[in-house]
Amino acid sequence: MSKPESHKHRTTSVSSAILAELQLYESRNIVQIAADSSWPIVWDRAQGMKVWDADELEYMDATSAFGVAAAGHANKRVVRAGRKQMGRLLHAMGDVHPHPGKALLARRLSELTFGDPGLNGLPTGLGKGKTIFCNSGFEAVEAALKTACLATGKSDVIAFEGAYHGLGYGSLNTTHRNHFKAPFLSQLKGFAHFVPFPETESQAIGSLKQILHLSQKHPIGAVLFEPIQARAGIRLPTDTFLVGLRKLTSELAILLVADEIYTGFGRTGDWFACHRAGIVPDVYCLGKALTGGFPMSACVGRAELMDRAWPHSSGEAIHTSTFLGHPVGCAMALAQIDEIAKRKLLHRAQCNGRFAISEFQKLAKASRWVRDVRGRGLMIGIELHEPIPGPIPIGVRVMKGLLAEGWIVLPEGEGSEVIAFTPPLIISKPEIKAFSSSLARVLHSIQ
Ligand SMILES: Cc1ncc(COP(=O)(O)O)c(C=O)c1O
Repeated sequence: MSKPESHKHRTTSVSSAILAELQLYESRNIVQIAADSSWPIVWDRAQGMKVWDADELEYMDATSAFGVAAAGHANKRVVRAGRKQMGRLLHAMGDVHPHPGKALLARRLSELTFGDPGLNGLPTGLGKGKTIFCNSGFEAVEAALKTACLATGKSDVIAFEGAYHGLGYGSLNTTHRNHFKAPFLSQLKGFAHFVPFPETESQAIGSLKQILHLSQKHPIGAVLFEPIQARAGIRLPTDTFLVGLRKLTSELAILLVADEIYTGFGRTGDWFACHRAGIVPDVYCLGKALTGGFPMSACVGRAELMDRAWPHSSGEAIHTSTFLGHPVGCAMALAQIDEIAKRKLLHRAQCNGRFAISEFQKLAKASRWVRDVRGRGLMIGIELHEPIPGPIPIGVRVMKGLLAEGWIVLPEGEGSEVIAFTPPLIISKPEIKAFSSSLARVLHSIQ
């Protein structure tokens, strides 16, 4: 476990030299580097829940590194599968000459998304899904946007206030936060319309009405949504909203596209968060935990829809990329999915998620800084009160305090007011308790 004192007084000689190099040679907008080298840490290696920095200090990761390391960092089976594949075939020809792993993974994704019989009371035998493999999450969103355009002949999309769907030029249209969009507005087409993300029943009715209204005024081909908004501060809609959204989009013949890039692969205690609400979207966007660490993503749509949208290849695919369906990514994804299933990580995320929420609620009662605790599975947000608004948001202060305690976390929400707790799904109850104690100490130290 972490050693608080040594983190507070860490010497950072190796890290400082690396950060100095980055300052010289990496674009300055990427990493924020404190003049005294107190931020960031430089990751050297990771295993399971743990991360070691370049100066050999040990940390616990409560972020899964942006939600990627769901089965733990450097999961042995996933690493073995990737290594084996690397020695056999390191690269194939995505849209020209495929490789076996791509077929295996496309079938596995079809089973998990559209084929899983009787999932949480959903109708059985839903059918098949077809996949477009991509590299990072935003590309999966863009493949879904293209699918909607082809399938419906309509250009526009409805997304939600607070939404984060990535920063590529297509997906950026549907990402809501101005910080990411403002410098590039002149190059954005602006085909997205935003409605409030509802967190109560009455807001849900309002948002559904707005969707109906927008669809009568604009050529809407899809509604794109996160089943739980991540970067907006772990915001949950009501289940009835998702059911209503499914019904409305079906009636209007608009595609329902679920961005499960963060919520997918067990994060919320189900393979996909939509399933808990009892709905199946037309298209899923998947990424992050799919491979456990290799940059690969997927747009998986209902087979009939995908066949309607996309023509047969004439020999020149209209949507592809050099690394499409990378053999190493496919091998790792197959191992990662097996690992999540074999180690029963969905069940673990449900149980330990409930335990974590109850621990954090106890803490909320004892700390005047905690406004709300919410989440599902191991996707939990601890919303904080901003004391006196100052230059450094409270979430950032807490994040740095936790780092000094040996815990890696990220703040979410437009004002960084929510501490996100999204650890690897292998986290244990004692580790959750240790996190809660560290958080209590950090909150106690805030004036
Ligand atoms: C819900 C959601 N969609 C899309 C993305 C973009 O994924 P990527 O950063 O891999 O492009 C993210 C990344 O955080 C995300 O959380």
